[in-house]
Amino acid sequence: MKKDKKLIVANWKMNPVTFVEAKEVFLKTRKVVSTLKNVDVVVCPPFVYLPLVQRLTGGKKHIHIGAQNSSSEDKGSYTGEVSPVMLRDGGVEYVILGHSERRALGETNEVVCRKAISALRAGLKIILCIGEEFRDNQGAYLGFLENQIKSSLVGISRASLGNIIIAYEPVFAIGKKESDAMNPRELLETVLYIRKILFSLYGKEGMEEVPVLYGGSVGEKNCRDILSEGGAQGLLVGHASLDTEAFRLIIKIAESL
Ligand code: PGA
Repeated sequence: MKKDKKLIVANWKMNPVTFVEAKEVFLKTRKVVSTLKNVDVVVCPPFVYLPLVQRLTGGKKHIHIGAQNSSSEDKGSYTGEVSPVMLRDGGVEYVILGHSERRALGETNEVVCRKAISALRAGLKIILCIGEEFRDNQGAYLGFLENQIKSSLVGISRASLGNIIIAYEPVFAIGKKESDAMNPRELLETVLYIRKILFSLYGKEGMEEVPVLYGGSVGEKNCRDILSEGGAQGLLVGHASLDTEAFRLIIKIAESL
């Protein structure tokens, strides 16, 4: 990703429930991206739709495909898992790892780290999700974030930095109304804090090369301020990415900044 470009990631989660709808949402999104200069869009549908959307990309430069999870193993007896090698072979470029909804199912930092190492080795770009569940007045959440970042990146070298994206998603702001998203001021402070941790791990290069996205109730009304004042270099958009008109507006606003 070019440094000045914004990255907008659509996290469809476990939606929509039919292939017909998935095709419709994807085609509408594809139409919007055809003229973009300043924005790259990544669409992350459920696994079953990956071949479909991959076929429908039509060679468009600004639309990329991502998965919402991948196994820490390349192959073998892991029923129900999907290997990052298979994803890459199928044309997938990105994978979301460590989303809070997966952590809620028991995924630990150590598991996320193993998945990250395998995904990077397979040639995927990882969108590593971090975020505190709540904020306290003593700042313990800062230590929580530091630990999440550091323990998810254990053993990951500087050479991989170009393939790492951090998505900061405060859990309390996910899946709510736009007015419940983090305010740009608090977000900016947090993005700077994340950059500081990246600096401590990888030096200046780490701080400058790894884009930090924001996710949590992003919509067409709050995305401008989040991007222009919140310090985020992109967005991880959940429910609004399935509302094709809202997502079109988010992309257009990002493109105009
Ligand atoms: P939301 O989801 O935009 O619906 O809050 C974001 C996410 O969970 O990635």
